[in-house]
Amino acid sequence: MTAINEVVDLSKEGDIAVVTVNSPPVNALSANVRDGLTEAFKQAIGDASAKAIVLICDGRTFIAGADISEFGKPPRGAPLGEVLSAIENAPKPVIAAIHGTALGGGLETALVAHYRVAVPSAKLGLPEVKIGLLPGAGGTQRLPRIVGVEKALEMITGGDPIGAKEAAATGLVDEVVEEGKLREQAIAFAKKVVGEGRPLKKVRDLPCSASPELFDKFFKANAKAFRGRMAPVNCAKAVQAATELPFDEGMKRERELFTELVTGDQSRALRYVFFAEREAAKIPDVPADTPVRDVKKVGVIGAGTMGGGISMNFLNAGIPVTMVEVQQEALDRGVGVIRKNYENSAKRGKLTAEQVEQRMGLLTPSLNLEDLADCDLVIEAVFELMDIKKELFGKLDKIVKQGAILASNTSYLNVDEMAACTSRPQDFIGLHFFSPANVMKLLEIVRGEKTGKDIIATCMGLAKKIGKVAVLVGVCHGFVGNRMLFQRTREANKLVDEGAMPWQVDKVLYDFGLPMGPFAMGDLAGLDIGWKAETSKSSTIRECLCEAGRRGQKTGAGYYDYDENRNASPSPVTEKIINDLRAKKGITPRAISDEEIFERTIYPMINEGAKILEEGKAIRASDIDIVWLNGYGWPAYRGGPMFYANLVGLKTVADKMNEFQAKYGDDFAVSPLLQRLADEGKTFADL
Ligand code: 3HC
Repeated sequence: MTAINEVVDLSKEGDIAVVTVNSPPVNALSANVRDGLTEAFKQAIGDASAKAIVLICDGRTFIAGADISEFGKPPRGAPLGEVLSAIENAPKPVIAAIHGTALGGGLETALVAHYRVAVPSAKLGLPEVKIGLLPGAGGTQRLPRIVGVEKALEMITGGDPIGAKEAAATGLVDEVVEEGKLREQAIAFAKKVVGEGRPLKKVRDLPCSASPELFDKFFKANAKAFRGRMAPVNCAKAVQAATELPFDEGMKRERELFTELVTGDQSRALRYVFFAEREAAKIPDVPADTPVRDVKKVGVIGAGTMGGGISMNFLNAGIPVTMVEVQQEALDRGVGVIRKNYENSAKRGKLTAEQVEQRMGLLTPSLNLEDLADCDLVIEAVFELMDIKKELFGKLDKIVKQGAILASNTSYLNVDEMAACTSRPQDFIGLHFFSPANVMKLLEIVRGEKTGKDIIATCMGLAKKIGKVAVLVGVCHGFVGNRMLFQRTREANKLVDEGAMPWQVDKVLYDFGLPMGPFAMGDLAGLDIGWKAETSKSSTIRECLCEAGRRGQKTGAGYYDYDENRNASPSPVTEKIINDLRAKKGITPRAISDEEIFERTIYPMINEGAKILEEGKAIRASDIDIVWLNGYGWPAYRGGPMFYANLVGLKTVADKMNEFQAKYGDDFAVSPLLQRLADEGKTFADL
């Protein structure tokens, strides 16, 4: 075996040359890998005794793509296009041997090989769209030629990989080989190709055509899914070019469309998110080798929307759950909702009837707290009243076995106060799920003053197991997400008091890319949350709406009017209620610009984010962004509020906040951290 460089080897098995990439963790196509491949292929091609070349990877995966950390930096090493041309133009067969994930530039490398073999567990895909890019090394031109235009459009604009079996059915993989025997069977395949004198199949030579209507239809059908996003649109345009232009011209078009994306803010934001998500899993004082506790059985207290949703996460992961309620009726209702959710998934083909029963079989409903005695983790999801929670944890402390984790799903209350009601505050933690808890990806893990490191490590690991994106936060009112949301809600309400209409405020935030504005969100959640008829004083718009029976979508009316399909339209009734209340309060409404709406709702959130960092309630600015992306629908292509602030400039944000403070008061007082960074010309990334 010859080491070409630190990451690429060349060896021989009889008359087959084997090029092996070994660049942990995921064999990304870094400059080193590209240089190594260039030299290895040069030597293998030059070796007259080698009749074919197998390209294979060591470690957990085939090449998982270009090295994302190289984008936006000065180019180094052999250009990927040249490496791939050399492979495709090799005068002897090249066979890509795939295990793990052949993604992005990795699949593009496999696509210039003349043949592809893969183990059954391998996955193949072009996920560039997820980081705001398109496959820029021929993927948009080659994939449709081999899997068909429609399938390629789906794979490239959606970014999800397909399995080896499906890949074989589409022709993307020539042979599925045995798990664990990739190397020997790829070599055997290569020998077969040589022995049978099979041709050097180049994907680029295959025909590619589609009717122009196919693309019109595709763009129309996906208008909503692609809203505001450049990458899927450019991906589809590049595939369209494959159907309209000769291969080399299609490649040029692909390059233009790729360049447009790679130099833009959307891809910058999405690449930032890729690394930020992985960074969030790292806790500086809780090393990766911190011992964790076994969580084999979970208890959930409360069978309402939250308790049920939380339970489903564990059932889905095969972890038994005991769900406790006070009343039989509420318990039955909770179990019924879980079953209905699963049955709906089964109707949509996402679960088999057997899987539904298997999950339900893991659920033990109970009216007795004592049944939680042997649970390894108990999460309460009862009313947000401190006294109720304290009493509950006092009881649980005496029931649940030692060594178990006690957790509260509170969305804003003080976790330390609850922990203090137990004899084991070191085993106490906040696990703040977002509603609907079986759907939303975010989990804020709230670290109490005394929470043990092993508890944090256990919960971070458990979050991954149940498919959540976990962010560690500190104890403060509303933690990270809701604490920032309070700022936005307060300003949105003030803007409507002053002269804006709810739909104007909502539209500004929707147009920015959020799924909905605060008023549409209020209607969806129900305006009567926390509202009581007996104490309602017609003092806010929300109170007036509730008093008028307009409690949100569920009553067919809230801020908006709703038709039978729950389509919203601005409501003249709401408008009158707002105008009447303004008159009662002696407010003369003024015209408010969209710009002011945007800055007054978003900048105070950023400012609050800065305070959160100052107080150490989040570890890093990017963690705050991960909260907003996964818990509140902040569009990933805008990177999160803190990333967005870096982009517009912290000085711009601070100056505007100071201006607002002078006009509207201390709700806009600038955080010292934000002011300092702004004065020093720095960003949150400099922290
Ligand atoms: N470039 C640089 N680093 C990468 C990387 C890449 N393409 N893919 C993964 N990594 C790093 C991660 O940042 C992480 O680093 P860390 O340990 O320091 O945090 C490490 O590799 C392991 O990654 P994961 O934690 O994500 O490991 P998993 O086993 O959970 O997942 C994976 C592996 C499925 C390969 C996943 O990492 C992944 O999806 N990677 C991105 C794939 C991708 O987007 N490829 C396309 C790149 S763009 C491209 O190819 C352009 C081309 O068309 C020109």
